[in-house]
Amino acid sequence: MKLLVTGGAGFIGSNFILYMMQQHPDYQIVNMDALTYAGNLENLKSVENEPKYSFVHADIADKEAVDRIFQQGIDVVVNFAAESHVDRSILEPEVFVNTNVLGTQVLLDASKKYGVTKYVQVSTDEVYGSLGETGLFSETTPLAPNSPYSASKAGGDLLVRAYHETFGLPVNVTRCSNNYGPYQFPEKLIPLMISRALNNDPLPVYGDGLNIRDWLYVEDHCSAIDLVIHKGRVGEVYNIGGNNERTNLHIVQTILRELGKPESLITYVEDRPGHDRRYGIDPTKITKELGWQPKYHFESGIKETIQWYLDNKDWWTRIQSGAYRDYLDRQYGNR
Ligand code: NAD
Ligand code: DAU
Repeated sequence: MKLLVTGGAGFIGSNFILYMMQQHPDYQIVNMDALTYAGNLENLKSVENEPKYSFVHADIADKEAVDRIFQQGIDVVVNFAAESHVDRSILEPEVFVNTNVLGTQVLLDASKKYGVTKYVQVSTDEVYGSLGETGLFSETTPLAPNSPYSASKAGGDLLVRAYHETFGLPVNVTRCSNNYGPYQFPEKLIPLMISRALNNDPLPVYGDGLNIRDWLYVEDHCSAIDLVIHKGRVGEVYNIGGNNERTNLHIVQTILRELGKPESLITYVEDRPGHDRRYGIDPTKITKELGWQPKYHFESGIKETIQWYLDNKDWWTRIQSGAYRDYLDRQYGNR
């Protein structure tokens, strides 16, 4: 099996490649990534010389580059490549549409032209918008995205659906809740708060801090996608979530407690525009149909994650200083 993983140098994509190389050592994995600010090949240093792994530096919206990769013969595509940060989408929506919508369409066209056995689009619960105090997102919840990020992801999802309905492309869409774990870029809530707390910097909590996210350990997301590739019914959407709803304030307080830092570091700042109040996933379909079960409980997962950031301070300080770009230049020159 030859697997094309796009966005494999990012947080979830790199965890997924490491996971798949362990679970399926016979698979050939091609990682295609544009290496935006969020792409970091250091995450994959342990496998970079493995014969079953290769890296191509390219943009998913670049038709010629994508075509060249598909000419090698790709069996399955898992599309993680995206602009992924809501706050950045509020500042600069255009790049979100280019990658998340047009890039998806380019991948779909190549998948159709060359024929793949499965195309998996890694999407997000944010396409469903915001929940009130009760209820959960199911696969039939209407799409109601509120940020340029989630609108662009919804656009990608709808193209995937259309390529299945119109051209018969064998697709799945997965919609996952907030991931956490190793190698998450320190702009996202958990690594941002860990790194700032360790530096005794103020922790910026948006609004009243009572917005709720449904947290899933990244390895559990990877095992779900593995199941969807192999067992997902063609044309279906699968929601992925671990029943771990927590307020942002609870997350920040947990991090401070674990690090032995004072709550006086918490600083309430202006709310994110269009800030979704609550996400919560109903994972019944993937658990019943595909037998997926998350392994991690939030309480142990967050402790492991905090420990990882303590043990890998060099990794995130290099990112913050931009020094990992030097590594890329050394490794890949002008590729
Ligand atoms: P990330 O920002 O950490 O990584 C994104 C990767 O995509 C980076 O390596 C980047 O270089 C690459 N990339 C960006 N634009 C590209 C382009 N035009 N061509 C090729 N590569 C490009 O993101 P993440 O948190 O790992 O998220 C991965 C996917 O999972 C995204 O599609 C995101 O929408 C989805 N998702 C994320 C979460 C989460 O909590 N992080 C939850 C649900 C779904
Ligand atoms: O739900 C899945 C989504 O989760 C993914 O699709 C996105 O790619 C991913 O970035 C994430 O989006 P969120 O907006 O939920 O994640 P973020 O880490 O940016 O914020 C989590 C919550 O914390 C949110 O309610 C905003 C709040 N927050 C965030 C930051 C960065 C703060 O209060 N302060 C902050 O500084």
